[in-house]
Amino acid sequence: MSYYDYIIVGSGIAGLYTALLAREKGSVLIITKGSIDDCNTKYAQGGIAVAVDKSDSPKLHLQDTIAAGDGLCDPEAVEFLVSEAIDRIADLIKFGVPFDTLDGKIALAKEAAHSVPRIMHAGGDATGEHIETTLSQQVRSSPIKVLEYCLATQILVENKTVKGVRVLDCRTGSTEEYECTFLILATGGAGRLFKYTTNSDVATADGIALAFQAGAEITDMEFFQFHPTALHLPGVTRFLISEAARGEGGILRNTKGYRFMPNYNSKADLAPRDIVSRSILYEMQKTKSDHVLLDVTHLPSHLVTTRFPHIYRFCLSQGLDITKELIPVTPAAHYLMGGIKVNTWGETNISGLFVAGETACTGVHGANRLASNSLLEVIVFSKKIIEKTQMTRRPAVSTVIKKEKCYFLSGRKIPERVPSLNLANLQSLLWNNVGIIRSGEGLAQATDTLAAWERCLPKPSDRFTYELNTLVLSGRLMTEAALLREESRGAHFRTDFPKPSPAWQHHITFKSAAQREA
Ligand code: SIN
Repeated sequence: MSYYDYIIVGSGIAGLYTALLAREKGSVLIITKGSIDDCNTKYAQGGIAVAVDKSDSPKLHLQDTIAAGDGLCDPEAVEFLVSEAIDRIADLIKFGVPFDTLDGKIALAKEAAHSVPRIMHAGGDATGEHIETTLSQQVRSSPIKVLEYCLATQILVENKTVKGVRVLDCRTGSTEEYECTFLILATGGAGRLFKYTTNSDVATADGIALAFQAGAEITDMEFFQFHPTALHLPGVTRFLISEAARGEGGILRNTKGYRFMPNYNSKADLAPRDIVSRSILYEMQKTKSDHVLLDVTHLPSHLVTTRFPHIYRFCLSQGLDITKELIPVTPAAHYLMGGIKVNTWGETNISGLFVAGETACTGVHGANRLASNSLLEVIVFSKKIIEKTQMTRRPAVSTVIKKEKCYFLSGRKIPERVPSLNLANLQSLLWNNVGIIRSGEGLAQATDTLAAWERCLPKPSDRFTYELNTLVLSGRLMTEAALLREESRGAHFRTDFPKPSPAWQHHITFKSAAQREA
């Protein structure tokens, strides 16, 4: 069995950045289920939030983050996020990420719910792609070993301590075990739970299922952010139209041409994402349409083409000139705030198991993520993970998420008839019943259906069947959490409980059945 000091699962910004820091400390293996460049990071358009402008401060950034999180951010984690931001951005610049400048200064954009412009970007709207390309080039020219097309299928744990990971080679079907001292999950998001998503195909919540099955705790799964504006063209994938387009003055109109957002919120088109997404759905219902329109035609066309070259070119390739025509858009699943519970060192309740990036729940996002805080979260907390692994070979376990109630997955009544289990039915169920607007009835029906599907899951043997197993389990964790939370808060909105309730100002954490027996 091969041994590495650090094994990192995933090759988005979280995996690559953590690997580059870890290589200074020991041997590193990255395991990734596609090619090194198959990840969600490269789809990130907006950028990285950081308080560098003289009108801004880490304190203001902290206040905006906590306001967006709607009562569930961990203030200690947010303090780390904002106070370490500038140093970590300097690290990215040292690695070679070419952030955009304007008149010799860092260019900063505005996004929803930020008090001031504070979003750094690269290549206009291609921030993720630039970060991914820069970091993957660094990894390729380093001694870090990369196993591509290999899927982690089981975390090996003994006496509540990580020993290694079992891996399926997706090309040959063979399995192998690798030993390590530190296992870092950086497997990304869960957008593929939903029929419509801005996420790449790899975002199948792999880390959450792996960690839960190994005995790690999973928290805040009900908080999933839907992005208001994904391109809606027949037969075209839901391509992200960055919120920065509204930050530059873009306006949402219904299909009758009416500007509707001022009717819903005083911040109009720059209201928090959950409000904009729900408002879009209401307008679609009112106008009996399957989309609304984003208008950037009043902006100078050179601004549109230089600030949003990626969006401009993609839309043009689909026959849409956005400098002259309105962009048909609908909301789409975008970002998971919850995930594997970690403390501010990125540690789980299993010794030696760390988590970085979207699959972790560090407590910085609370019930709703402030736009462009996620790339920052990755670089701040990945650094802390590597620091912690150097403090002691077996870090002590502590927790940061303080106000929580713990649950086990429920033993549901299994309905007699459910739709057949396949990826399309699963994604439709989550989109319809666990999406932007939820209800107790819909959530209960989805919970029952998922419990029934869990009983007829195919025995996993290849990437597709592993992913289906993973999606059903993570879908259950998300749906049951949303059913338990009888209120509306942040990104979680229920028609039967449309207001926040002080009784629910705590986290919902799931423990695995193995923990019940222990
Ligand atoms: C966007 O560009 O609108 C997405 C940015 C983010 O989700 O943080």
